[in-house]
Amino acid sequence: MKSYRIALVPGDGIGRDVTDAAWQVLERAARGAGFGLEGTAFPWSCAHYKETGAMMPDDGIAKLRGFDSILLGAVGWPAQVPDNVSLHGLLLPIRKAFVQYANVRPHRLLPGVVGPLRKTEFDILCIRENTEGEYAGAGGRVHRGGPDEVAVETSVFTRKGVERILRFGFEQARRRTGRLASVTKSNAQKYSMVFWDEVTEALAPEYPDVTVTSYHIDAMAARMVMAPESLDVVVASNLFGDILTDLGAAIQGGLGYAASANLVPDRSAPSMFEPVHGSAPDIAHLGIANPIAAIWSGAMMLEHLGEQAAADAIMAAISATTARGIGTVQGREKTGEITAAVLAALG
Ligand code: IPM
Ligand code: MN
Repeated sequence: MKSYRIALVPGDGIGRDVTDAAWQVLERAARGAGFGLEGTAFPWSCAHYKETGAMMPDDGIAKLRGFDSILLGAVGWPAQVPDNVSLHGLLLPIRKAFVQYANVRPHRLLPGVVGPLRKTEFDILCIRENTEGEYAGAGGRVHRGGPDEVAVETSVFTRKGVERILRFGFEQARRRTGRLASVTKSNAQKYSMVFWDEVTEALAPEYPDVTVTSYHIDAMAARMVMAPESLDVVVASNLFGDILTDLGAAIQGGLGYAASANLVPDRSAPSMFEPVHGSAPDIAHLGIANPIAAIWSGAMMLEHLGEQAAADAIMAAISATTARGIGTVQGREKTGEITAAVLAALG
């Protein structure tokens, strides 16, 4: 029997509850489809930092490298560890070390979920550059604490990085409706964003079946609210994609439905799958976290592993659950009840 080795990193807060929920659903789906999943859990988290002084051990990346995929819950517990320390100690190094350059986030309404927009027929796939750009981490501070203190943080856009994320976007568009929206701010940022637009234009002739349109980030934010049905695949830099995907989560009814994949398209290293929501310390002990975003992320993992039928079965089970009104109102059902409904729908 075919079997996949999955690294489980539940992390902090509700990350633990939703990873547990997603894993139950994944195991059930795997059994139904006739393949195995072997999960290995890692305790890396802010609690681990408090115990050991590090979010993950020095050989953490080496440990993860041998797995087929990583399923991650959430990272961050700001009351104990500053967010910039926890994120730069666990989530961000994994994305960068494995060059998970394509952060893929689907935004559409599940049946029975009422979003904030009047328009309800939309299906947007956001592709966020995940390794460089505004989050490259190039910068510094001088004259710390003094009145002349200076902080600089420089965006880094490489031809390699821009080209590969755009190609990924073109390829996704080709598989969907053939429409690609490329997001920049080239009217104001005249180096990096003009460069991005130029690379987009240079690649376009290689994808004659894709219609590519460039938008500025501010106009795109408005468009996602006013005319989300006009969009299909949206490709953006790290910062812009980060912001647009929280907007995408909002229009799909909330962060409880926002799934994501951090993909290594050439499969030279494991990809990582995680819900977009964070650790949510405010509700972490209540058992009311919506596991749907994590379960959907798990379905994306199976799709990436080539188990399309099992991925489709999970998506159908999620839809059947929300269509019955379960998991559609924040906090109404417990995490366990929503999970049980998805498992029941899976059969
Ligand atoms: C996300 C998160 C992270 C990001 C943070 C926690 C660093 O907001 O996955 O969107 O910006 O990448
Ligand atoms: Mn974000």
